[in-house]
Amino acid sequence: MILGIETSCDETAAAIVTRAGEIGSNVVASQAELHAEFGGVVPEIASRRHLELVLPVVRRALDDAGTSLDEVELVAVTRGPGLVGALLVGVSAAKALAWSRRLPLAPVDHLDGHVASLYLEPHPFEPPFVCLLASGGHTSLLDVRSHSSTRVLGRTLDDAVGEAFDKGARLLGLGYPGGAAIDALAREGDPGAFEFPVARVPGLDFSFSGVKTSLLYAVRKLSAEELDRRRADLAASYQRALVRALVERTEAAAELIGAERVAVVGGVAANSELRASLPWARAAPLPLCTDNAAMIASAARWVEALPYPRYLALDAYASAA
Ligand code: KG4
Ligand code: ZN
Repeated sequence: MILGIETSCDETAAAIVTRAGEIGSNVVASQAELHAEFGGVVPEIASRRHLELVLPVVRRALDDAGTSLDEVELVAVTRGPGLVGALLVGVSAAKALAWSRRLPLAPVDHLDGHVASLYLEPHPFEPPFVCLLASGGHTSLLDVRSHSSTRVLGRTLDDAVGEAFDKGARLLGLGYPGGAAIDALAREGDPGAFEFPVARVPGLDFSFSGVKTSLLYAVRKLSAEELDRRRADLAASYQRALVRALVERTEAAAELIGAERVAVVGGVAANSELRASLPWARAAPLPLCTDNAAMIASAARWVEALPYPRYLALDAYASAA
């Protein structure tokens, strides 16, 4: 049994996963409500809340899986990238738990974790494939050659696409985090109502800062009453532009390296229009798209674990190495 812990942003998560990739439990305590009034994650508040939640969440994950620490053989934890104060809470908890049982500890990269959400039972998707990783903090195209070898083909030069969803939702008065709210509202709108161009940067990189500005201008032109009436059209048109950019680049990446198989992971992989626009691609299972610890435990299966007590000096990192 592997105990996974994830605290890189505003979800406190713990999970039990077997070496074979079966999920015994997957507990996620979201802090979204706590940050909503600020319109985004407040790092200091996130750290404090992780501190309160991490042990109860771990306990719950053990209970849900019908197991105990006695049966855990490996502790896996997200080491980065993310909010460093938030990460440190998970890393410290993982160290303490592993140390108390003399267990090894596997430090996991959060992005490898998202990709490893595909490797879990009951329908694992195995490399090689091209992977679109689209989340609140990252947007990249990856050439996944094996469980432990990944090459970056392209990445966003500015905002992550989830950030573009969240900022768009804020402009539309939909609250935080707004990706799912835009997704829901877009179903009632006309995606052709507004023209929101997405910048085409060279190669396989992305850029999402401009499209957000064009939404801002469109919203400014409307009276409060017009905005109310056209909110769904704005959401649908904005989502269409973001999804088109993702789909175009993903198809280009697959063609460039001659990949026949494509996968989509990360919070934005939950988007219904994105999933429908890439019907031939494998999308991560919905509960495993947004941050969770099952994906971290999954990734740990291909990470060299540090034996007791070598990990006691382990540090977190805020941005990709
Ligand atoms: O992977 P994730 O939980 O956290 C990061 O590692 O960043 O992704 C969170 C992001 C947020 O920006 C959220 O708005 C977005 O995923 N998201 C969605 C949907 N569900 C979550 N975006 C578009 N459509 C959705 N249905
Ligand atoms: Zn994530």
